[in-house]
Amino acid sequence: MKLVLLFRGMLFLLFLTWFCSGQPAPPLLRFSVYLDPSNMVYLRWDHDEQEMMTFDLQVHTTGWVAFGFSPHGELPGSDIVIGGVFPNGSIYFSDFHVVDEATLEEDDSQDYQLLSVTENETSTTMLFKRHLRTCDSNDLDITMDTARLITVFGTDDTVQLFKGQKFSKSLFLMRYRSPSNSTDPKIFFTYDLRLDNFAVPVEETKYACTFLPLPVVKQKHHIYKFEPVITPHNITLVHHILIYACGNASVLPSGIDDCYGANPDFALCSQVVVGWAVGGESYQFPDDAAYSIGTPWDPQYVRLEIHYSNFDLVSGLIDSSGVRIYYTPEVRKYDVGVLQTGIFTFPVHFIPPGAESYRSYGLCNSSQFDEMNGTPVPDLHVFAYLLHTHLAGRGVKVTQYRNGKQLGIICEDNKYDFTLQEIRDMKEILVIKPGDEILVECNFQTLDRSGITFAGPSTMNEMCLSFLFYYPRNNISSCMGYPDILYIAHVLKQEASDAVEGMMAMDFVDWNNETVKTAEKAAKEADQIVVIKTINVNVPPPSFLPTPRLLTCRAQRETEKAFRLCKHWSDMAKTLVCHQFVF
Ligand SMILES: *[C@@H]1O[C@H](CO)[C@@H](O)[C@H](O)[C@H]1NC(C)=O
Ligand SMILES: *[C@@H]1O[C@H](CO)[C@@H](O)[C@H](O)[C@H]1NC(C)=O
Ligand SMILES: *[C@@H]1O[C@H](CO)[C@@H](O)[C@H](O)[C@H]1NC(C)=O
Ligand SMILES: *[C@@H]1O[C@H](CO)[C@@H](O)[C@H](O)[C@H]1NC(C)=O
Ligand SMILES: *[C@@H]1O[C@H](CO)[C@@H](O)[C@H](O)[C@H]1NC(C)=O
Ligand SMILES: *[C@@H]1O[C@H](CO)[C@@H](O)[C@H](O)[C@H]1NC(C)=O
Ligand SMILES: *[C@@H]1O[C@H](CO)[C@@H](O)[C@H](O)[C@H]1NC(C)=O
Ligand SMILES: *[C@@H]1O[C@H](CO)[C@@H](O)[C@H](O)[C@H]1NC(C)=O
Repeated sequence: MKLVLLFRGMLFLLFLTWFCSGQPAPPLLRFSVYLDPSNMVYLRWDHDEQEMMTFDLQVHTTGWVAFGFSPHGELPGSDIVIGGVFPNGSIYFSDFHVVDEATLEEDDSQDYQLLSVTENETSTTMLFKRHLRTCDSNDLDITMDTARLITVFGTDDTVQLFKGQKFSKSLFLMRYRSPSNSTDPKIFFTYDLRLDNFAVPVEETKYACTFLPLPVVKQKHHIYKFEPVITPHNITLVHHILIYACGNASVLPSGIDDCYGANPDFALCSQVVVGWAVGGESYQFPDDAAYSIGTPWDPQYVRLEIHYSNFDLVSGLIDSSGVRIYYTPEVRKYDVGVLQTGIFTFPVHFIPPGAESYRSYGLCNSSQFDEMNGTPVPDLHVFAYLLHTHLAGRGVKVTQYRNGKQLGIICEDNKYDFTLQEIRDMKEILVIKPGDEILVECNFQTLDRSGITFAGPSTMNEMCLSFLFYYPRNNISSCMGYPDILYIAHVLKQEASDAVEGMMAMDFVDWNNETVKTAEKAAKEADQIVVIKTINVNVPPPSFLPTPRLLTCRAQRETEKAFRLCKHWSDMAKTLVCHQFVF
């Protein structure tokens, strides 16, 4: 039996006294993660059809605990709950918001419902729930965007929010499938894709890449699961891991090197297979589809990319982290394919300096899929996605159009965090029919930059990509667009007669907030050139590729077909895209 008495805070807390005769049965929460590097804060969570999110937070303290959502990872502006257990056994729990660096206010509208708070000799555990959208302006919505979680705690029950131990973490909460939702095959093998005793340099950030063979199998097998294999260190060193499929093994370099450094060959292979971010768990494909190996259409090699963050500049660290793949001869109904959409990574995609927000667009017009595929392309059943930009990216949105009408948003993250690149499941399977258009919009911020940012492979260059995971697989590997730079140059009153001149002309523009907006609008209205590639066929690249950076395109050795769209795109952009995004 439970009895809850409410008193309005004598301090600033809402006190609850809870007489209880036993622990409530812990709810089945499917998702969990440590929110700090030393595993003191453990969060389990889940959400239901009623748009209610339940959290179970265990913190290694017997003092007060604060937890909530922050706009950018800092305390000011955040929406938090504070709770704990007094030494006399009374409990406290309340919904607050942080006004500024020194002001904490209790919300008039209490939108977090406490289920239990308990304490033992070492830890405090709070179980509570809230609606995704509470409609209280002092709460932050839980959306499909990356959340910035914040945890603060103290050693006793005198809440001193601004003096507590604080951790922030980006996390995607709106997950729909956990590994426990999946069925495992009876026969399976594992195989590790790992670095071999890599001496992690004494640098804050390092992108280490190496090329590794996939398991050699005599007949078709399916890779159905990926699991991080992290070398234990006493600090969080591995930040994220990406695996890319390689079309042609004979051109790949050996050894471990900078992914985006002096040797451009280490950026070869751009087809994402899976992504794992710090704190993440294993990833498993849906039961009826998996990634094929062992047939002539399958990759034989992958590029393993590990992002190390050695913030404390620790020397002498040796690391052999990577990803363990699970594969099986019990092949599933469908092969998984990955369609890369977005803006063709090509320097005609530029982002002006000093922009608070600059949106770029890349169109995939799939009307030529059948022709390029060789046979009619079956509908694409999209079940997951991975969004990708570099450091200036703040958001990515992928929209689907059919017969000139917008069908809806396929996926989006308006609070994109470069350090959290992971494969995310769709709520429901989404069908893309050949002939549909897929528009990828990226939002960039360049307030900290004084020069133009061009698209390219290095982390200081940019990308705007969305990888759509679907079945059944077809031969199309990517479908990306880029705007007609000559049109943009013309609108910005620059002279240019070809793409290279158009690109170089951007350096002569006097960039201010007005020209930034003009460029953004022109890039949106411009015709898009759509480049479609198929897997694994060796064809030289088009000759118009301008800079040495594009060596990487040359080396991809995939069929390319560029076709210029008629002016129709710009009309469509105006009439359809502007419905959603008014400048
Ligand atoms: C328990 O301790 C707190 C803090 O000292 C106090 O505010 C509260 O009234 C106490 N509760 C009971 C039931 O004594
Ligand atoms: C205290 O609670 C935490 C979190 O539930 C648990 O991991 C730990 O084992 C407990 N410690 C003791 C001594 O019961
Ligand atoms: C996954 O499992 C949870 C509970 O175990 C269930 O509520 C949910 O419907 C399952 N989802 C799918 C997609 O099977
Ligand atoms: C990690 O371990 C090294 C020795 O292996 C030690 O020098 C260092 O202080 C430890 N760091 C932390 C944060 O515990
Ligand atoms: C891979 O590239 C090499 C060298 O360019 C070429 O000789 C070979 O035919 C290619 N193999 C495939 C399967 O495309
Ligand atoms: C891929 O293309 C080949 C012809 O080049 C065709 O025979 C095959 O059916 C295509 N595969 C798929 C899955 O459409
Ligand atoms: C645009 O305005 C913001 C202030 O709103 C400023 O910080 C930024 O430098 C300006 N950008 C340019 C290119 O002048
Ligand atoms: C896509 O391409 C087809 C055929 O090339 C064309 O009819 C259609 O208008 C294009 N879509 C857009 C948005 O331009």
